Amino acid sequence: MAPVSMAVVGAGQRGAGYARWAGRNPDRARVVAVAEPSAPRRARLAAEHGIAAGNAVSDWKELAGRGRLADAVLICTQDRMHVEPAEAFAALGYHILLEKPMAPDEAGCRRIVAAVETAGVMLAVGHVLRYTQYTRAVKEAADSGLLGDIMSVQHLEPVGFWHHAHSYVRGNWRRADLAASMLMAKSCHDLDWLQYILGRAPLRVSSFGSLAHFTAAGRPDGAADRCAACPVEADCPYSAPRFYGDLLQRGEHGWPLSVVIDDFTPAALDEALRDGPYGRCAYACDNDVVDHQVVALEFPGAITATFTMTAFTRAAPRSTRLFGTRAELAGDGQAIRVYDFLAQA
Ligand SMILES: NC(=O)c1ccc[n+]([C@@H]2O[C@H](COP(=O)([O-])OP(=O)(O)OC[C@H]3O[C@@H](n4cnc5c(N)ncnc54)[C@H](O)[C@@H]3O)[C@@H](O)[C@H]2O)c1
Repeated sequence: MAPVSMAVVGAGQRGAGYARWAGRNPDRARVVAVAEPSAPRRARLAAEHGIAAGNAVSDWKELAGRGRLADAVLICTQDRMHVEPAEAFAALGYHILLEKPMAPDEAGCRRIVAAVETAGVMLAVGHVLRYTQYTRAVKEAADSGLLGDIMSVQHLEPVGFWHHAHSYVRGNWRRADLAASMLMAKSCHDLDWLQYILGRAPLRVSSFGSLAHFTAAGRPDGAADRCAACPVEADCPYSAPRFYGDLLQRGEHGWPLSVVIDDFTPAALDEALRDGPYGRCAYACDNDVVDHQVVALEFPGAITATFTMTAFTRAAPRSTRLFGTRAELAGDGQAIRVYDFLAQA
């Protein structure tokens, strides 16, 4: 089969990441067009993939205006910029890989589904957790009968203290009106994954959560509005200079440092933390998404499940326990262990 030709809409963290995969797998896919308003990002992606000058444009509307240039489009713009490009590229006959969340509300999701059904194109949503070897192993175990009937599920998304501060306090997903709620932005993966593993949709859900810590009330005495000028920074786990400075020192230039600076020098980092969003005190931002939340779900077959997302962890892969009538499965995101009740092993 000829490699799939792809247009990238939004050459940010995700778009550039998918394009890198295509670069490593030229027999599977190649990037032939890009739409990205940031000139350095656009130029970098165009150079890495040998994209013709006329196919590197600054806006998705301009790209859509050229008609169909590729088999598929990767829509990797921010959360509130998915619906319109999905409709436009579907109408042009592009197959679509759309980043999650599809849209911030049900009406937006329905518009996307209607557009792809009318056009008869394929739509995949970036629920990337479904496609890992680990998920395949958990799914096989759940479907094999090894566990008997699954009765209860415990699933944890340990977002991690620094990841939470980076993305959900200081960063792009800090406010529901700018992006989406926490469950939609981060944990749509988890709710999708649970349904996928159990092979059914829930009947009932309830949920509680709050923004309890990263608020003005949580601010340590004497803290400044920015870490760079803060007298109590050394004692704060959420210090931006410590976290990003350590990454820079270790030469770890990928995400999340690549969100903060393009030029990987101490001077550029100092400037970004002095003036930019990522240097703000974690207790003096305009964030409103929750920092911890729990969801209780009831699935057909009397399966009960709980899901917890919390900022207050070491950053780690998601972990899951599936409790069946014949065995229990424990997975830490990398390995799974099954304890069989008959064998007691
Ligand atoms: N699947 C996952 O695991 C996963 C992980 C992180 C983020 N995401 C989702 O992926 C999406 C993108 O996230 P990101 O971290 O790459 O964001 P990002 O901000 O790094 O990238 C978005 C890019 O879109 C560009 N853009 C803005 N307006 C545009 C326009 N009119 N036309 C074309 N491009 C335009 C921006 O300049 C930016 O480079 C978000 O919806 C996010 O929630 C998915």
